[in-house]
Amino acid sequence: MIPESYRAIELREYTEDLPSFQVVQKKRPELAKGEVLIKMAASPINPSDLSFLRGQYGIKKKLPCVPGFEGSGTVVASGGGFYANYLKGKNVACSASPAGEGTWAEYMKVPAQLCLPLKKSIELEQGSMTIVNPLTAWSLIEIARDLGAKAIMQTAAAGALGQMIHRLAKKKGLDVIDIVRREDQKQALESQGFENVLISEDAKFERELRVRAGKLNATVALDAVGGEMTGTLAACMPNQSHVIVYGGLAGEACSVHPGSLIFQGQTVHGYWLSTYLSQRNPLQLVRLSGRVQKLLNTELKSQIRGRYSLEEGEKAVKDYTATMSGGKILITP
Ligand SMILES: NC(=O)c1ccc[n+]([C@@H]2O[C@H](COP(=O)([O-])OP(=O)(O)OC[C@H]3O[C@@H](n4cnc5c(N)ncnc54)[C@H](OP(=O)(O)O)[C@@H]3O)[C@@H](O)[C@H]2O)c1
Repeated sequence: MIPESYRAIELREYTEDLPSFQVVQKKRPELAKGEVLIKMAASPINPSDLSFLRGQYGIKKKLPCVPGFEGSGTVVASGGGFYANYLKGKNVACSASPAGEGTWAEYMKVPAQLCLPLKKSIELEQGSMTIVNPLTAWSLIEIARDLGAKAIMQTAAAGALGQMIHRLAKKKGLDVIDIVRREDQKQALESQGFENVLISEDAKFERELRVRAGKLNATVALDAVGGEMTGTLAACMPNQSHVIVYGGLAGEACSVHPGSLIFQGQTVHGYWLSTYLSQRNPLQLVRLSGRVQKLLNTELKSQIRGRYSLEEGEKAVKDYTATMSGGKILITP
């Protein structure tokens, strides 16, 4: 039975400090045609959530609001319409609507198009991480191959997405140079068989990167860090290469030497999953979801490091911010 009200985390102020949340009771919403109500099972904290909480993301909601961009759960009610009715009773991966409430709640109302039915083989917790990282990994590798890459390099390689990108790239026959910032991250990746792991803080990093990029002909770089790193990648790659910036973990503007653009002929692109998905038709999205879900328990699997209740939301964000590598933190209402 669906209760008259449910618990949700509420954000009242965007702040660069650790956020403070209230857990509030929300009234069960009315559903319009094409909308569904999801009983939420789990929702990860991603870097995009941290940017959102700071008011620095590409989407800014009117406050107060319920944060959380992706998750999973069971569709318990439909407002009518073919797809919404089809989803009723099914386990789904879902993303929050840009104007609506987020996933860090017991229930979420959302347009049915923002839900992907989960295959039976996918557990709800793993299914809560179907959209943001797996679809990004898939599309970035597709873009790299379209750009003619035989090998890629990537930053933030020890993160959840970095590891997916590596495994998927290898599956598709690409060589990978993985860049991390600490020795323990290098060891963790090497223990999984990653062959070309470099530490950005090492004195010989740039020289080593240039040598390996030349040897492997790594002509596409996937950069989640930004700042000076973007320019370092561009400078160390073979001429006529591409740097795709898809994250800003350094929190600084990307700086690229003009010589890299003029004399080396490098190109710097931006990538946002929201834009990528908005350019696909429903049939392409269904195909994409099927392909990604087939690999969700293998190449595109996310490790889980911890689980927190709604009441522990602040603690969850603090834990995640302190240690981003080593697995995802889930909010499990
Ligand atoms: N553009 C898009 O559409 C899109 C879609 C999905 C994800 N992303 C981006 O992809 C990136 C990775 O996401 P994720 O889910 O894999 O995150 P994650 O699992 O939390 O991993 C983040 C990784 O980045 C490292 N890191 C953090 N700050 C760094 C810095 N200043 N310099 C170098 N490394 C740093 C962390 O290492 P430590 O443990 O050392 O902190 C960790 O290994 C994020 O920037 C996210 O916003 C973008």
